[in-house]
Order: sequence, then C-alpha cells, then structure tokens
Amino acid sequence: MTPPAPPTDLARDADALVARLVAAYPGEADPATARVVHAPGRVNLIGEHTDYNEGFVLPVAIDLGISLALVPTDDRRVDVTLAATGERDGFDLDAIGAKRSSWIDYVAGTAWALLDAGEPVSGFRAVLVSDLPQGSGLSSSAALELASSLALSGGALPAVDRMTLARLAQRAENAYVGVNCGLMDQFASAFGEPGSALLLDCRTLEHRAVRMPLEETALVVCHSGSPRRLETSAYNERRAQCEAAVATIAAVEPGVTALRDVTPAMLEAHRGRMDPLVAARAEHIVHENERVLAAVAAFEAGDLDEVGRLFAASHASMRDLFGISSPELDALVEIADGVDGVYGARLTGAGFGGCTVNLVRREAAPALREAVERDYGPRTGLHARVFEVEPSRGAAVLRG
Ligand code: GLA
Repeated sequence: MTPPAPPTDLARDADALVARLVAAYPGEADPATARVVHAPGRVNLIGEHTDYNEGFVLPVAIDLGISLALVPTDDRRVDVTLAATGERDGFDLDAIGAKRSSWIDYVAGTAWALLDAGEPVSGFRAVLVSDLPQGSGLSSSAALELASSLALSGGALPAVDRMTLARLAQRAENAYVGVNCGLMDQFASAFGEPGSALLLDCRTLEHRAVRMPLEETALVVCHSGSPRRLETSAYNERRAQCEAAVATIAAVEPGVTALRDVTPAMLEAHRGRMDPLVAARAEHIVHENERVLAAVAAFEAGDLDEVGRLFAASHASMRDLFGISSPELDALVEIADGVDGVYGARLTGAGFGGCTVNLVRREAAPALREAVERDYGPRTGLHARVFEVEPSRGAAVLRG
C-alpha cells in the first residue's frame, strides 16, 4: 500500500527532487523555500516479533528510504505527488477523516497522531520519492510516517525527542492505519546510526548502538519477490497467540505481564496447560529474546560465526515454531547457507514473504549473488533481488 519505487535515482538527488516539486506545483512551490526531508527503511538483524512482547530487537536503519521535497504552507492543506507515477493525493489538517486504504493514510495518520498529542503541524505541498523496494518488508510505512512528521513540522525535526516521535508514528499506524505493529520499525527509522545496529529494550525503551564490523563484512538483503500474503491478519493472530500464552502463565505466575518475563524453564513448566500451537509461538519469543542478547555479545566479541549460528537458529524457529516463513524465504536461506563466506541468513521483518538478511564476508558477497541468481528461479519460479545495505542515519532534514 506504500508508494512504488521510482525509475530514477531521484531519491539521492535533492536538487532534482526540488525541480520535480516546482514542476508538480507551478506557482505554489518556490525553490528558495523548498526543503527536503528523509527517513530510512530498516532491516532487522535479529529479534523478530519480540517488540510487542516487550523484548529485545536489533534493527539497522538502511541507506534506502523515503524523501519528500516540500514547501510548507499556511493553508492547512497537505498535498503530496508521487515522483514515480505522478499520482497525487492530500487532505485537510482540520478535517483529516477516516483512512482510505492508500499510501496517503500514513501521512494522514501521522498528522492525526501529532495533532492528537498537541504538537503543531502545518500544511505543505510535496513530491515524494522512495527507493525502498515495494512490498519488501523493509519498513516503507515507518519511513513514510517519520518523513511525514518532519514535513508536517515545516520541513524540520519536530520539537519532541526522537523516542516520542517514533511512538507517535507507531500510534499513527496502530490507531489510524489499523496495523497493530510494535515499535521496532519506527524506532529504527528515527534513531539510525551510520555503521551501527541498534539494540532496543522494548520494555524500558533503553537503547544503544552496536558497531558493525563493516570493513570485513557486508549486510546483504535478498528480496524474495513473493507478496507478503495474509500479512496483517496473520500478524495480528501471532500477537493474540502470544497474549494467550501470557494469560495462561500469568494465571499462576503473578509477576508475568508479557512473554519478556517468561524464562525457558517457566515455559516448560506451563507448556502442558497450553494449546501446543500457542506454546510453540511462546517458545520462539522466549528463545529469540535470548538470541538477541547473545548476538550483541557475539558482535562485540567479534565472533561472527556465533552470530551466524544465532541467525540460523532464529530462522529455524520462525519457520518451525512461529510459522512466519515461506517456501521462498526458506529457499533463500538454504541457498545462502551453501555459500562459503556467508555467516548466516534469516528472514527479516514480519515474515510471510519479503526479504532475508545475510551476514557475509565482504569478498563472498558476489558469490552469494551468483548462487541466488542461479538457484532461486529454478526452485521457486520467482526472481529474487539481491542488494547490499549500509547502516545509515535516522530521519533527517537534507535541505533546511
Ligand atoms: C513488523 C512490525 C514490527 C515487528 C516486526 C516483526 O515489521 O511492524 O513492529 O513486530 O514486524 O519483528
């Protein structure tokens, strides 16, 4: 539902984007007052579906995202044109109305959340460009929410701190768009740091950067090219199953309010009282939280083989226990596992399609690409896209 990617590299060229803005809004957009804002997508290294269980996540903001060239206006009207298609949509800040099931919902929802929190917002005319592959699960919605919050603040960082901004963007998605996501994607898009992954404790909201060994290793994303089937309903079903596990355990363990509080031993003690599927979902979360902390320790010790083993265990758990993989994602992981120099591969994001993330020795990245290009098509009938991503900064004003 988020905007399609453009045919050019407009996403990296602020001047060209401003020229598109002037052309799209003749007489309304003065290049001298135009601003350009940007917010990145993300790839999650490990910690999947743990965010709404008050656990740990380790995402990376990437060098792909959404940019808006805009001129602020004082007419309370928001109007956005997509650079890729020329499609145009907008709304009135004083009469936002209900969602329309279109990409404009992420802009309107962000405006609604900012207004509801009493934050000042202004109208604007904008041209939007995205270089996040469509439907890839690299958080184009969070990127659009964060970029919109800067555009709605006159093309500047809003006065609130970045965590408040991330939470307002999450609220836009939960309460306006109607997707019951956790905080990870908006957090990553707000806090990205060049060269680092970001460890977030989703209960306390404490976070810190974890340096990536980028001289020797690359982060490679493989996009399965398969649509993310049933994503919203299956996502909400996983949340409900996690809540059911908490309810069963909390009935006898009063200190438990989220799966974050459940240890592996506690889960085994209560497994018999749970539906086996619910127990399997909980088992993924309980061990995935441990894997995030273990992966941070392994990154910091320079033990990339161990990170790779944790990636593999995480993928197997998502496939066998949490039930969010797909034959295409499994094929990508199996192909990567056969390539020398790939430490580990796993699906990233909500699942049900989308991408895998691979931690790869730099010199082995071409071999991974070749293996995917050779083997993926014959196995699945689909075409995969393979690209390297760089850990990058969070939402920012590119031209103020
Ligand atoms: C989506 C959601 C996130 C998170 C991931 C799974 O990206 O938006 O909040 O739950 O799925 O880890």
